[in-house]
Amino acid sequence: MTAMYQSSFDTVILNARIATAADLYTADIGILDGVVVAIGRDLPNGRETIDARGRFVTPGGVDAHVHLDQPTSDGSKMADDFLTGTRSAACGGTTTVIPFALQFKGRSVRAAVEDYHTRANGKASIDYAFHLIVSDPTEAVLKDELPALIADGYTSIKVYMTYDDMKLDDRQIIDVLACARVHGAMTMVHAENSDCIGWLTERLLAAGLTAPKYHGDSRPMLVEREATHRAIALSEVTEAPILIVHVSGREAIEQIHWARGRGLPIFAETCPQYLFLSEEDLALEGFAGAKCICSPPPRDKANQQAVWTGLQNGMFTIVSSDHAPFNYDDPHGKMLHGAAGGFHQVPNGIPGLETRLPLLFSEGVLAGRIDINRFVQLTSTNAAKLYGLYPRKGAIAVGSDADLVIWDTGIERTIRNDELHHAADYTPYEGREVRAWPAMTLSRGVTVWADGQFRGQAGHGQFLRCERPDVVTSQVKAGTAAI
Ligand code: URP
Ligand code: ZN
Ligand code: ZN
Repeated sequence: MTAMYQSSFDTVILNARIATAADLYTADIGILDGVVVAIGRDLPNGRETIDARGRFVTPGGVDAHVHLDQPTSDGSKMADDFLTGTRSAACGGTTTVIPFALQFKGRSVRAAVEDYHTRANGKASIDYAFHLIVSDPTEAVLKDELPALIADGYTSIKVYMTYDDMKLDDRQIIDVLACARVHGAMTMVHAENSDCIGWLTERLLAAGLTAPKYHGDSRPMLVEREATHRAIALSEVTEAPILIVHVSGREAIEQIHWARGRGLPIFAETCPQYLFLSEEDLALEGFAGAKCICSPPPRDKANQQAVWTGLQNGMFTIVSSDHAPFNYDDPHGKMLHGAAGGFHQVPNGIPGLETRLPLLFSEGVLAGRIDINRFVQLTSTNAAKLYGLYPRKGAIAVGSDADLVIWDTGIERTIRNDELHHAADYTPYEGREVRAWPAMTLSRGVTVWADGQFRGQAGHGQFLRCERPDVVTSQVKAGTAAI
């Protein structure tokens, strides 16, 4: 190769064991101006050359369900903002996050988006897009705001069937779904039956059962199963594709299986907490179980196994973290009402952005439960496709952003909160062993994590306008949930 070629790449990764959603092969990757511009053998050195011999290289993770600096209405405060959240993501191999711009009831969705841009601006070290949470689908929202926002690149909407400050009734969900279908957006549904939760909670509290472990009893599997079935029915009646978020176990998976059997475009997400945490973690001594309070709650071991099976057999489309970080020992966090506070007053959510990929690589790929192509589908490619970011994100291909992870595998690492980069004061995975961790993460060709150090910069992360997802526009025509 001539000197002219030698200077034509900013970075070259030699001998990469490239794993995509479909392929596994060895090649060199040439990067220029943040984009993959060549994949081949015997590429010349770049201005920087990295030898990845013996290492897997995957597309950077796309974490399509995270909550960062999201305003709350109960006085709690999230531990992570865009600075610490994206830093933590980068250190765990994630190069794109999609958090939520939350509409408060009585306010506009556009105002929520503008506020959320202010929160993100200049702070993110990796790229980000926004989902919209619609909690008040007024006529103005449905007729004017959502169509305009979708056209502007906010092409996914989350609706809640529970939580008093956000939940929609069935008719409101139908209205949002019909709007999303016409304008080409993906709708994400938090499926739990609010009235059942309310009734069960009242009975538990009346009996004096307030400890964190009763969170699980207040939201049993049937509450999720019923709402999942209802969400599917609402999707069917409007012919709008949906993604059921944070699916926790067998009965909900059965509903999704049933819907897929009918050819309905139902997509599904699960999260590491439903693979690695259980009701036993909610029952930890004293108030410690509050660390694992999230909704739906972690279930039993049989449900964990059902979720693994769903990852293997294609029932799940993506694995996201649902990173919703509240400090444990903090009057604005899990201890909002003190250590004696009832389970129903504890802010819901757990941190998990940084540990999502290492946990799934270790216990999924290295433990032989899923292959590496499935790992890439679940953690990167499918999310990019679902939310209109593919092939810019979620791929290793000429023309794609050079968002890459070079993996260390066969290592022994114990997860310690002290060594993570989020701002939360705990991880629910403290002490857990993993056998894989990113050796290096690149965001648009820039090293953001290497040699055990965060190397990124606040402000490097760019806002991503999402396309209308092909899986929405084509699924509506085809009527299947293939991705
Ligand atoms: O408990 C959870 N999952 N908190 C985050 C908010 C949500 O519903 O995703
Ligand atoms: Zn949710
Ligand atoms: Zn969430």
